[in-house]
Amino acid sequence: MVVPANHVFLVGPISFVGEHCQENIILQLDGTVVAPTDPQVWGGEHWLHFDKLSRFTLQGSGTVDGRGSVWWRRSQSEDLNDDLLDVDNDADDGMDSEDADTQAMRFDHCLNVTFSGIKIQNSPNFHLTFDHCVGVLVRDMSISSPGDSPNTDGIHLGNSQDVTIHDATLACGDDCISIVSGCSNINIHDVHCGPGHGISIGSLGKDHSRACVHNITVRDVDLQGTMNGVRIKSWQGGSGSVYGVRFSNIRVSEV
Ligand SMILES: *[C@@H]1O[C@H](CO)[C@@H](O)[C@H](O)[C@H]1NC(C)=O
Ligand SMILES: *[C@@H]1O[C@H](CO)[C@@H](O)[C@H](O)[C@H]1NC(C)=O
Repeated sequence: MVVPANHVFLVGPISFVGEHCQENIILQLDGTVVAPTDPQVWGGEHWLHFDKLSRFTLQGSGTVDGRGSVWWRRSQSEDLNDDLLDVDNDADDGMDSEDADTQAMRFDHCLNVTFSGIKIQNSPNFHLTFDHCVGVLVRDMSISSPGDSPNTDGIHLGNSQDVTIHDATLACGDDCISIVSGCSNINIHDVHCGPGHGISIGSLGKDHSRACVHNITVRDVDLQGTMNGVRIKSWQGGSGSVYGVRFSNIRVSEV
């Protein structure tokens, strides 16, 4: 499937659902794909959703633009209301946004996915999520949204194994990469993060849940102008385990 260069396509929420699709489909994205700006049209769904695909490749030199600024303003005014009502919603945490369901690109239950070249920008919420995926390669790509855009995690991993992320330039308003429960065998290297909140394992154990994460390597990364460097964050009252974590050659500046 080809999205040709030098064209801009307005695309509503769409799902590419496999299981019975052939393997080895390549989506060559060289043009620009933009989201509707009216939150009503999104209907609270993910925007570009990929589910149950096997050996799927998304590649090209194109751009995916979530045009999220309308959402960010809404979310900021909700936070403001919460502040006025003194509600503790821990807006910094990034997990709250799991309910928000307004992620630009999301892969669920995929086996051996490759994502390369594409630039994703201005997502209303998380930019690129993998959940219940096994065998993920993300490389030579970038993510860009303003440092003050709320909950715009760059790449979010949950319940996924055998994931490699390298040569990625990530600028966003929350964690550049977040790794939550059920993840193992994750290898991240040669990533630039900033602005953003850093590279995080967690949050883990929210609402007394059990969370397990192991065998995570983060090496040769550059964090510049971020809120944090690399971290493991957990909630009080949760349980589980985190082991086999290696952070090496992490360069931080103005963090
Ligand atoms: C997925 O990739 C792994 C590692 O390269 C390979 O062993 C496995 O056979 C692949 N599975 C499918 C369904 O492509
Ligand atoms: C840890 O993860 C790496 C991939 O990042 C993998 O190559 C390695 O086999 C894993 N180690 C174990 C003990 O599973």
